[in-house]
Amino acid sequence: MKEKLLGQFEELFGAGGDIREYFAPGRVNLIGEHTDYNGGHVFPCALTIGTYAVVRKRQDDKLRFYSVNFEKLGIVESQLNDLNPSKEAGWTNYPKGVMWAFEERGFKLSSGLDIMIYGNIPNGSGLSSSASLEVLTGVVLKDMFDFDVSMVDIALIGQYSENNFNGMNCGIMDQFASAMGKKDNAIFLDTSTLQYEYAPVVLKDAKIVITNSKVKHSLVDSAYNDRRNESEAALKELQEVIDIHTLGDLTEEQFEIHKNAIKDPVRLKRAKHAVYENQRTIKAVEALKADDIETFGKLMNDSHISLRDDYEVSCEEIDILVNLAWKTEGVIGSRITGGGFGGCTVSIVKNDAVDNFINVIGNAYEEKVGHKAEFYVVDIGDGAGALS
Ligand code: GLA
Repeated sequence: MKEKLLGQFEELFGAGGDIREYFAPGRVNLIGEHTDYNGGHVFPCALTIGTYAVVRKRQDDKLRFYSVNFEKLGIVESQLNDLNPSKEAGWTNYPKGVMWAFEERGFKLSSGLDIMIYGNIPNGSGLSSSASLEVLTGVVLKDMFDFDVSMVDIALIGQYSENNFNGMNCGIMDQFASAMGKKDNAIFLDTSTLQYEYAPVVLKDAKIVITNSKVKHSLVDSAYNDRRNESEAALKELQEVIDIHTLGDLTEEQFEIHKNAIKDPVRLKRAKHAVYENQRTIKAVEALKADDIETFGKLMNDSHISLRDDYEVSCEEIDILVNLAWKTEGVIGSRITGGGFGGCTVSIVKNDAVDNFINVIGNAYEEKVGHKAEFYVVDIGDGAGALS
Protein backbone atom coordinates (compact mmCIF):
# COMPACT_ATOMS: atom_id res chain seq x y z
CA MET A 1 0.00 0.00 0.00
CA LYS A 2 2.70 2.40 1.14
CA GLU A 3 4.82 1.99 -1.99
CA LYS A 4 1.86 2.15 -4.32
CA LEU A 5 0.58 5.40 -2.82
CA LEU A 6 4.05 6.93 -2.89
CA GLY A 7 4.33 6.11 -6.60
CA GLN A 8 0.97 7.71 -7.28
CA PHE A 9 1.92 10.81 -5.30
CA GLU A 10 5.15 11.23 -7.27
CA GLU A 11 3.31 10.85 -10.55
CA LEU A 12 0.85 13.52 -9.50
CA PHE A 13 2.98 16.06 -7.66
CA GLY A 14 6.50 15.13 -8.83
CA ALA A 15 9.28 13.25 -7.05
CA GLY A 16 11.87 14.48 -4.56
CA GLY A 17 11.92 16.22 -1.20
CA ASP A 18 10.72 15.01 2.16
CA ILE A 19 7.61 12.95 1.37
CA ARG A 20 5.92 11.38 4.38
CA GLU A 21 3.06 8.91 4.82
CA TYR A 22 0.39 8.59 7.50
CA PHE A 23 -2.64 6.51 8.43
CA ALA A 24 -5.70 7.04 10.61
CA PRO A 25 -8.25 4.27 11.19
CA GLY A 26 -12.04 4.21 11.13
CA ARG A 27 -13.87 2.86 14.14
CA VAL A 28 -16.66 0.59 15.20
CA ASN A 29 -18.50 1.23 18.44
CA LEU A 30 -19.34 -1.93 20.41
CA ILE A 31 -21.76 -0.22 22.80
CA GLY A 32 -22.50 3.26 24.19
CA GLU A 33 -24.32 5.01 21.35
CA HIS A 34 -25.37 8.66 21.42
CA THR A 35 -23.90 8.93 24.90
CA ASP A 36 -20.77 10.86 23.96
CA TYR A 37 -22.44 14.29 23.87
CA ASN A 38 -24.49 13.36 26.93
CA GLY A 39 -21.54 12.96 29.28
CA GLY A 40 -21.75 9.18 29.19
CA HIS A 41 -19.41 6.30 28.38
CA VAL A 42 -18.59 4.80 25.00
CA PHE A 43 -16.76 1.62 24.04
CA PRO A 44 -15.39 1.89 20.50
CA CYS A 45 -12.39 0.30 18.85
CA ALA A 46 -10.20 1.33 15.94
CA LEU A 47 -10.36 -0.73 12.77
CA THR A 48 -7.55 -1.73 10.44
CA ILE A 49 -9.27 0.10 7.57
CA GLY A 50 -9.01 3.87 7.43
CA THR A 51 -7.50 6.77 5.54
CA TYR A 52 -3.95 7.21 4.23
CA ALA A 53 -2.11 10.43 3.43
CA VAL A 54 1.04 11.09 1.43
CA VAL A 55 2.31 14.61 2.09
CA ARG A 56 5.10 17.06 1.23
CA LYS A 57 5.64 20.65 2.23
CA ARG A 58 5.52 23.32 -0.43
CA GLN A 59 7.63 26.46 -0.85
CA ASP A 60 4.53 28.66 -1.04
CA ASP A 61 1.17 29.00 0.74
CA LYS A 62 -0.78 26.77 -1.62
CA LEU A 63 -2.71 23.73 -0.48
CA ARG A 64 -3.10 21.10 -3.14
CA PHE A 65 -5.36 18.16 -2.31
CA TYR A 66 -5.99 15.00 -4.28
CA SER A 67 -8.12 12.02 -3.32
CA VAL A 68 -7.68 8.67 -5.00
CA ASN A 69 -11.33 8.06 -4.06
CA PHE A 70 -12.55 11.14 -5.96
CA GLU A 71 -10.29 10.97 -9.01
CA LYS A 72 -12.74 12.91 -11.14
CA LEU A 73 -12.31 15.99 -8.97
CA GLY A 74 -8.61 16.09 -9.82
CA ILE A 75 -6.35 18.32 -7.75
CA VAL A 76 -8.34 20.70 -5.56
CA GLU A 77 -6.42 23.88 -4.80
CA SER A 78 -6.70 26.26 -1.92
CA GLN A 79 -4.55 28.67 0.07
CA LEU A 80 -3.54 28.92 3.70
CA ASN A 81 -5.17 32.34 3.88
CA ASP A 82 -8.47 30.93 2.64
CA LEU A 83 -9.41 28.37 5.27
CA ASN A 84 -13.18 28.81 4.98
CA PRO A 85 -15.81 26.11 4.45
CA SER A 86 -17.44 26.06 1.02
CA LYS A 87 -19.66 23.72 -0.93
CA GLU A 88 -17.24 23.57 -3.86
CA ALA A 89 -14.43 22.43 -1.56
CA GLY A 90 -16.25 19.08 -1.10
CA TRP A 91 -14.24 16.53 0.89
CA THR A 92 -11.35 19.00 1.37
CA ASN A 93 -13.54 20.83 3.91
CA TYR A 94 -12.42 18.17 6.41
CA PRO A 95 -8.64 18.67 6.17
CA LYS A 96 -9.14 22.41 5.74
CA GLY A 97 -11.32 22.47 8.85
CA VAL A 98 -8.56 20.83 10.88
CA MET A 99 -5.97 23.30 9.54
CA TRP A 100 -8.30 26.13 10.50
CA ALA A 101 -8.80 24.62 13.98
CA PHE A 102 -5.02 24.36 14.52
CA GLU A 103 -4.63 28.00 13.56
CA GLU A 104 -7.48 28.92 15.92
CA ARG A 105 -5.42 27.32 18.68
CA GLY A 106 -2.42 29.42 17.74
CA PHE A 107 -0.52 26.84 15.68
CA LYS A 108 0.67 28.61 12.54
CA LEU A 109 1.15 26.55 9.40
CA SER A 110 4.43 27.90 8.02
CA SER A 111 3.97 26.61 4.47
CA GLY A 112 1.48 25.03 2.11
CA LEU A 113 1.25 21.29 1.46
CA ASP A 114 0.69 18.80 -1.32
CA ILE A 115 -1.58 16.11 0.11
CA MET A 116 -2.77 12.91 -1.50
CA ILE A 117 -5.46 10.91 0.32
CA TYR A 118 -6.69 7.36 -0.07
CA GLY A 119 -9.39 5.81 2.09
CA ASN A 120 -10.67 2.22 2.27
CA ILE A 121 -13.60 2.75 4.62
CA PRO A 122 -16.77 2.07 2.65
CA ASN A 123 -18.45 5.37 1.82
CA GLY A 124 -21.34 6.46 4.02
CA SER A 125 -21.08 3.32 6.13
CA GLY A 126 -21.00 5.06 9.51
CA LEU A 127 -17.53 3.71 10.26
CA SER A 128 -16.16 7.24 10.67
CA SER A 129 -14.42 8.03 7.44
CA SER A 130 -14.70 11.76 8.19
CA ALA A 131 -13.28 11.47 11.72
CA SER A 132 -10.41 9.40 10.34
CA LEU A 133 -9.70 12.12 7.77
CA GLU A 134 -9.72 14.75 10.51
CA VAL A 135 -7.41 12.79 12.79
CA LEU A 136 -5.20 11.99 9.82
CA THR A 137 -4.85 15.70 9.08
CA GLY A 138 -4.05 16.27 12.76
CA VAL A 139 -1.17 13.79 12.75
CA VAL A 140 0.09 15.19 9.44
CA LEU A 141 0.24 18.74 10.84
CA LYS A 142 1.74 17.65 14.16
CA ASP A 143 4.52 15.76 12.42
CA MET A 144 5.15 18.08 9.48
CA PHE A 145 5.27 21.27 11.55
CA ASP A 146 6.49 19.81 14.85
CA PHE A 147 3.42 21.01 16.74
CA ASP A 148 3.38 20.17 20.43
CA VAL A 149 -0.03 18.46 20.65
CA SER A 150 -1.02 15.14 22.19
CA MET A 151 -3.11 12.53 20.43
CA VAL A 152 -6.03 13.47 22.70
CA ASP A 153 -5.61 17.10 21.56
CA ILE A 154 -5.69 15.90 17.96
CA ALA A 155 -9.00 14.15 18.65
CA LEU A 156 -10.40 17.30 20.28
CA ILE A 157 -9.20 19.53 17.45
CA GLY A 158 -10.81 17.13 14.96
CA GLN A 159 -14.12 17.29 16.83
CA TYR A 160 -13.87 21.08 17.11
CA SER A 161 -13.35 21.38 13.37
CA GLU A 162 -16.27 19.09 12.61
CA ASN A 163 -18.55 21.07 14.96
CA ASN A 164 -17.45 24.55 13.94
CA PHE A 165 -16.21 24.24 10.37
CA ASN A 166 -18.38 21.44 9.01
CA GLY A 167 -21.53 22.09 11.04
CA MET A 168 -22.00 18.60 12.48
CA ASN A 169 -22.32 18.67 16.28
CA CYS A 170 -20.72 15.27 16.84
CA GLY A 171 -19.33 14.09 20.16
CA ILE A 172 -15.75 13.02 20.76
CA MET A 173 -16.05 9.26 20.28
CA ASP A 174 -15.05 8.86 16.64
CA GLN A 175 -12.00 11.12 16.69
CA PHE A 176 -10.91 9.68 20.03
CA ALA A 177 -11.11 6.11 18.74
CA SER A 178 -9.20 6.98 15.57
CA ALA A 179 -6.47 8.84 17.47
CA MET A 180 -6.16 6.61 20.54
CA GLY A 181 -7.05 3.13 19.29
CA LYS A 182 -5.00 0.14 20.38
CA LYS A 183 -4.67 -3.21 18.64
CA ASP A 184 -7.00 -5.88 20.06
CA ASN A 185 -8.48 -3.44 22.60
CA ALA A 186 -11.61 -1.34 22.84
CA ILE A 187 -11.50 2.03 24.58
CA PHE A 188 -13.72 2.51 27.60
CA LEU A 189 -14.00 6.29 27.55
CA ASP A 190 -15.81 8.53 29.99
CA THR A 191 -16.74 11.42 27.72
CA SER A 192 -17.40 13.77 30.64
CA THR A 193 -13.78 13.64 31.85
CA LEU A 194 -11.96 12.05 28.89
CA GLN A 195 -10.58 9.47 31.29
CA TYR A 196 -10.15 6.21 29.46
CA GLU A 197 -9.05 2.67 29.90
CA TYR A 198 -8.15 0.02 27.33
CA ALA A 199 -10.06 -3.23 27.62
CA PRO A 200 -8.75 -6.26 25.75
CA VAL A 201 -11.46 -7.63 23.48
CA VAL A 202 -11.11 -11.32 24.12
CA LEU A 203 -14.07 -13.03 22.54
CA LYS A 204 -12.73 -16.55 22.92
CA ASP A 205 -14.46 -18.45 20.14
CA ALA A 206 -16.23 -15.49 18.53
CA LYS A 207 -15.58 -12.64 16.11
CA ILE A 208 -16.79 -9.10 15.49
CA VAL A 209 -18.76 -8.93 12.25
CA ILE A 210 -19.85 -5.62 10.75
CA THR A 211 -22.77 -5.70 8.34
CA ASN A 212 -23.14 -2.75 6.00
CA SER A 213 -26.78 -2.10 5.08
CA LYS A 214 -25.56 0.04 2.15
CA VAL A 215 -28.19 2.64 2.92
CA LYS A 216 -27.67 6.14 4.21
CA HIS A 217 -30.81 8.14 4.69
CA SER A 218 -30.75 11.83 3.89
CA LEU A 219 -30.73 14.61 6.47
CA VAL A 220 -28.61 12.48 8.78
CA ASP A 221 -26.66 15.45 10.10
CA SER A 222 -29.76 17.48 10.88
CA ALA A 223 -31.52 14.53 12.54
CA TYR A 224 -28.36 13.98 14.60
CA ASN A 225 -28.25 17.62 15.65
CA ASP A 226 -31.97 17.37 16.58
CA ARG A 227 -31.27 14.44 18.90
CA ARG A 228 -28.53 16.40 20.52
CA ASN A 229 -30.79 19.42 21.06
CA GLU A 230 -33.58 17.24 22.48
CA SER A 231 -31.19 15.60 24.95
CA GLU A 232 -29.84 18.98 26.02
CA ALA A 233 -33.35 20.35 26.56
CA ALA A 234 -34.24 17.29 28.68
CA LEU A 235 -31.07 17.82 30.73
CA LYS A 236 -32.10 21.42 31.44
CA GLU A 237 -35.49 20.26 32.71
CA LEU A 238 -33.87 17.65 34.97
CA GLN A 239 -31.43 20.23 36.29
CA GLU A 240 -34.43 22.07 37.76
CA VAL A 241 -34.92 19.18 40.18
CA ILE A 242 -31.53 17.51 40.60
CA ASP A 243 -27.96 18.75 40.67
CA ILE A 244 -26.33 17.11 37.64
CA HIS A 245 -23.97 18.27 34.90
CA THR A 246 -24.89 15.71 32.25
CA LEU A 247 -27.36 12.89 31.67
CA GLY A 248 -24.42 10.57 32.22
CA ASP A 249 -24.43 11.57 35.90
CA LEU A 250 -27.71 9.75 36.50
CA THR A 251 -28.29 6.14 37.50
CA GLU A 252 -31.42 4.44 36.21
CA GLU A 253 -33.01 4.76 39.67
CA GLN A 254 -32.35 8.48 39.89
CA PHE A 255 -33.74 8.95 36.43
CA GLU A 256 -36.95 7.12 37.30
CA ILE A 257 -37.42 9.30 40.39
CA HIS A 258 -36.91 12.60 38.57
CA LYS A 259 -38.06 11.89 35.03
CA ASN A 260 -41.38 13.68 35.48
CA ALA A 261 -39.47 16.94 35.28
CA ILE A 262 -39.25 16.31 31.53
CA LYS A 263 -42.45 17.71 30.09
CA ASP A 264 -42.39 16.30 26.60
CA PRO A 265 -42.75 12.57 25.78
CA VAL A 266 -40.17 12.69 22.97
CA ARG A 267 -37.55 14.36 25.14
CA LEU A 268 -38.34 11.85 27.88
CA LYS A 269 -37.52 8.97 25.54
CA ARG A 270 -34.31 10.61 24.39
CA ALA A 271 -33.14 11.17 27.96
CA LYS A 272 -34.12 7.65 28.99
CA HIS A 273 -31.96 6.25 26.23
CA ALA A 274 -28.99 8.41 27.18
CA VAL A 275 -29.18 7.39 30.85
CA TYR A 276 -29.82 3.67 30.35
CA GLU A 277 -27.34 3.34 27.48
CA ASN A 278 -24.61 4.83 29.62
CA GLN A 279 -25.34 2.36 32.44
CA ARG A 280 -25.49 -0.50 29.91
CA THR A 281 -22.06 0.46 28.63
CA ILE A 282 -20.58 0.37 32.12
CA LYS A 283 -22.18 -3.04 32.72
CA ALA A 284 -21.05 -4.35 29.33
CA VAL A 285 -17.42 -3.53 30.04
CA GLU A 286 -17.68 -5.23 33.43
CA ALA A 287 -19.15 -8.29 31.72
CA LEU A 288 -16.37 -8.37 29.13
CA LYS A 289 -13.74 -8.13 31.85
CA ALA A 290 -15.41 -11.01 33.65
CA ASP A 291 -15.32 -13.05 30.44
CA ASP A 292 -19.12 -13.04 30.36
CA ILE A 293 -19.66 -12.63 26.64
CA GLU A 294 -23.28 -13.70 26.85
CA THR A 295 -24.19 -10.75 29.07
CA PHE A 296 -22.18 -8.46 26.81
CA GLY A 297 -24.25 -9.68 23.84
CA LYS A 298 -27.53 -9.27 25.70
CA LEU A 299 -26.63 -5.66 26.53
CA MET A 300 -25.82 -5.04 22.85
CA ASN A 301 -29.31 -6.27 21.95
CA ASP A 302 -30.90 -4.03 24.60
CA SER A 303 -28.89 -1.13 23.23
CA HIS A 304 -30.40 -1.70 19.81
CA ILE A 305 -33.95 -1.79 21.15
CA SER A 306 -33.38 1.48 22.96
CA LEU A 307 -31.84 3.14 19.89
CA ARG A 308 -34.73 1.88 17.79
CA ASP A 309 -37.63 2.76 20.09
CA ASP A 310 -36.48 5.57 22.39
CA TYR A 311 -33.74 7.39 20.50
CA GLU A 312 -35.30 6.56 17.11
CA VAL A 313 -32.11 6.52 15.11
CA SER A 314 -32.55 3.14 13.44
CA CYS A 315 -34.29 2.52 10.13
CA GLU A 316 -36.10 -0.30 8.38
CA GLU A 317 -33.06 -1.80 6.68
CA ILE A 318 -30.99 -1.82 9.86
CA ASP A 319 -33.85 -3.36 11.86
CA ILE A 320 -34.13 -6.09 9.24
CA LEU A 321 -30.43 -6.90 9.64
CA VAL A 322 -30.60 -6.91 13.43
CA ASN A 323 -33.77 -9.01 13.54
CA LEU A 324 -32.20 -11.53 11.17
CA ALA A 325 -29.05 -11.63 13.31
CA TRP A 326 -31.01 -12.19 16.50
CA LYS A 327 -32.65 -15.23 14.89
CA THR A 328 -29.41 -16.68 13.53
CA GLU A 329 -27.58 -19.51 15.23
CA GLY A 330 -24.32 -18.55 16.95
CA VAL A 331 -25.06 -14.82 17.30
CA ILE A 332 -24.17 -13.55 20.77
CA GLY A 333 -25.36 -9.97 20.23
CA SER A 334 -26.21 -7.56 17.42
CA ARG A 335 -27.03 -3.87 17.20
CA ILE A 336 -26.86 -0.76 15.08
CA THR A 337 -23.51 1.02 15.40
CA GLY A 338 -22.58 4.67 14.89
CA GLY A 339 -24.81 7.68 14.33
CA GLY A 340 -27.66 5.71 12.73
CA PHE A 341 -30.27 6.25 9.99
CA GLY A 342 -28.52 3.58 7.93
CA GLY A 343 -24.90 2.50 7.96
CA CYS A 344 -23.82 -0.64 9.74
CA THR A 345 -24.68 -3.15 12.42
CA VAL A 346 -22.11 -4.78 14.67
CA SER A 347 -22.54 -8.38 15.76
CA ILE A 348 -20.59 -10.82 17.88
CA VAL A 349 -20.74 -14.16 16.13
CA LYS A 350 -19.29 -17.54 17.11
CA ASN A 351 -16.38 -18.51 14.84
CA ASP A 352 -18.04 -21.60 13.45
CA ALA A 353 -21.25 -19.67 12.71
CA VAL A 354 -19.71 -16.80 10.74
CA ASP A 355 -20.02 -18.36 7.27
CA ASN A 356 -23.62 -19.30 7.86
CA PHE A 357 -24.34 -15.79 9.29
CA ILE A 358 -23.03 -14.17 6.12
CA ASN A 359 -24.91 -16.54 3.81
CA VAL A 360 -28.25 -16.63 5.54
CA ILE A 361 -28.46 -12.93 6.41
CA GLY A 362 -26.97 -11.89 3.08
CA ASN A 363 -29.62 -13.81 1.14
CA ALA A 364 -32.57 -12.85 3.33
CA TYR A 365 -31.58 -9.17 3.32
CA GLU A 366 -31.23 -9.05 -0.44
CA GLU A 367 -34.60 -10.68 -0.84
CA LYS A 368 -36.32 -8.23 1.49
CA VAL A 369 -34.54 -5.01 0.57
CA GLY A 370 -33.54 -5.56 -3.05
CA HIS A 371 -29.83 -4.94 -2.73
CA LYS A 372 -26.90 -6.74 -1.16
CA ALA A 373 -25.45 -6.08 2.26
CA GLU A 374 -21.69 -6.25 2.80
CA PHE A 375 -20.00 -8.14 5.61
CA TYR A 376 -16.63 -7.45 7.22
CA VAL A 377 -15.09 -9.78 9.78
CA VAL A 378 -12.89 -7.22 11.48
CA ASP A 379 -9.68 -6.94 13.42
CA ILE A 380 -9.08 -4.22 15.97
CA GLY A 381 -6.17 -2.01 14.97
CA ASP A 382 -3.97 0.75 16.38
CA GLY A 383 -4.71 4.47 16.38
CA ALA A 384 -3.39 7.02 13.89
CA GLY A 385 0.27 7.79 13.19
CA ALA A 386 3.09 8.10 10.70
CA LEU A 387 3.88 5.06 8.59
CA SER A 388 7.47 4.11 9.15
C1 GLA B 1 -21.63 9.74 15.32
C2 GLA B 1 -20.91 10.85 16.06
C3 GLA B 1 -20.36 10.38 17.39
C4 GLA B 1 -21.44 9.67 18.21
C5 GLA B 1 -22.17 8.63 17.36
C6 GLA B 1 -23.35 8.02 18.08
O1 GLA B 1 -20.73 8.74 14.95
O2 GLA B 1 -19.85 11.35 15.28
O3 GLA B 1 -19.82 11.46 18.11
O4 GLA B 1 -22.33 10.58 18.78
O5 GLA B 1 -22.65 9.17 16.14
O6 GLA B 1 -22.93 7.28 19.18
